[in-house]
Amino acid sequence: MTRVGIIGLGFMGKMHFRCYQALDGVQVVAICDTDKTKFEDTSGTAGNIEGAEAPLDLTGIGLYDDFDKMLAEANLDAVSITLPTYMHREYATRALNAGVNTLCEKPLALNVEDAEAIVAAAEKAGKLLQTGHCIRFWPEYAKTKEIIDSGEYSKVLAATFQRLSLTPTWSWDNWLMDASKSGSAALDLHIHDSDYVQYVFGMPKAVFSRSVGGPSQEFDHIVTQYICDGDCVVTAEGGWAMTPGFGFEMSFNIVLEKATISYDCTRDPAFKVAPVGGEAFTPEIAAGDGYSNEIEHFIKAVQGRNVPEIITPTQSVDSLRLVLAEKESAASGQLARL
Ligand SMILES: NC(=O)c1ccc[n+]([C@@H]2O[C@H](COP(=O)([O-])OP(=O)(O)OC[C@H]3O[C@@H](n4cnc5c(N)ncnc54)[C@H](O)[C@@H]3O)[C@@H](O)[C@H]2O)c1
Repeated sequence: MTRVGIIGLGFMGKMHFRCYQALDGVQVVAICDTDKTKFEDTSGTAGNIEGAEAPLDLTGIGLYDDFDKMLAEANLDAVSITLPTYMHREYATRALNAGVNTLCEKPLALNVEDAEAIVAAAEKAGKLLQTGHCIRFWPEYAKTKEIIDSGEYSKVLAATFQRLSLTPTWSWDNWLMDASKSGSAALDLHIHDSDYVQYVFGMPKAVFSRSVGGPSQEFDHIVTQYICDGDCVVTAEGGWAMTPGFGFEMSFNIVLEKATISYDCTRDPAFKVAPVGGEAFTPEIAAGDGYSNEIEHFIKAVQGRNVPEIITPTQSVDSLRLVLAEKESAASGQLARL
């Protein structure tokens, strides 16, 4: 039995809990949260992704408000750090220093120094560090990378990604709306697409961004052009200044020489490949979603089973670097080189 702990039972902590509990041979044995009301309100998640499900059953689980005590007592094989981003460095390094394999939510940290400190702690401890870049595991996005890499439809000419959300007003202590704690929409939300751009096209050489402040005052809506190897045109738009009635949308359009691949989570069918000279079709995709698939991947790695390399600590730091360069470009009005 793989023994798992979670610190931070908010929106993502509940998500991780459900994903672990759905796996065979895994048990969440301990949860830490300094806000004890979180152990009483175990109802479905609130947030921009649908998932209001059955209440969590915390029976038999060790409930803590002191992380070091949890690490000392619970004999954990792995822990999820689902805390506000500005706390990731402190708690992820503590977990790794205690010799516990760590799944830390994205972004790994607010700045490169903190992110590198977490990576160094993992290396020193010889333990696994996976960052919650769930879009790499999202079935439609994973399939799209597979199709592009296969070369079946020749090379990519252009790709554009969108991730737009109502303003997230539901976070603990409203930390998301404090840009010094969340990094604003650019670092909290849009990083999903920056990370996917890096995954598919490699680390861009430069970025050019425009952005405006909104509810958090900084970088709440950002549009970026990524200067990648080759001549393909790659852009992404992300923001959380949308009105409540808009809800949440993630989508992309990828133009290859011999097909167009498109996805829009609000459309039916959401995922389409339209090849040159053929009918559009929806490819077979993996079961589950990005969260369940990333957690299954993490647990397999913790258990010493063979897993493909999907997200490395270095790539997580690079995704952070990429978004920080986007902010730099938006602030200066100039191209930012990487
Ligand atoms: N992968 C994704 O799609 C995705 C989606 C949402 C959030 N996230 C990331 O997940 C992380 C958490 O975000 P969230 O939306 O779940 O936040 P949240 O505000 O919903 O939850 C944070 C939780 O941490 C608890 N907490 C605060 N300080 C603590 C401490 N010192 N010790 C223990 N518990 C403490 C709070 O009580 C709360 O329950 C962030 O890094 C965020 O960027 C990722």
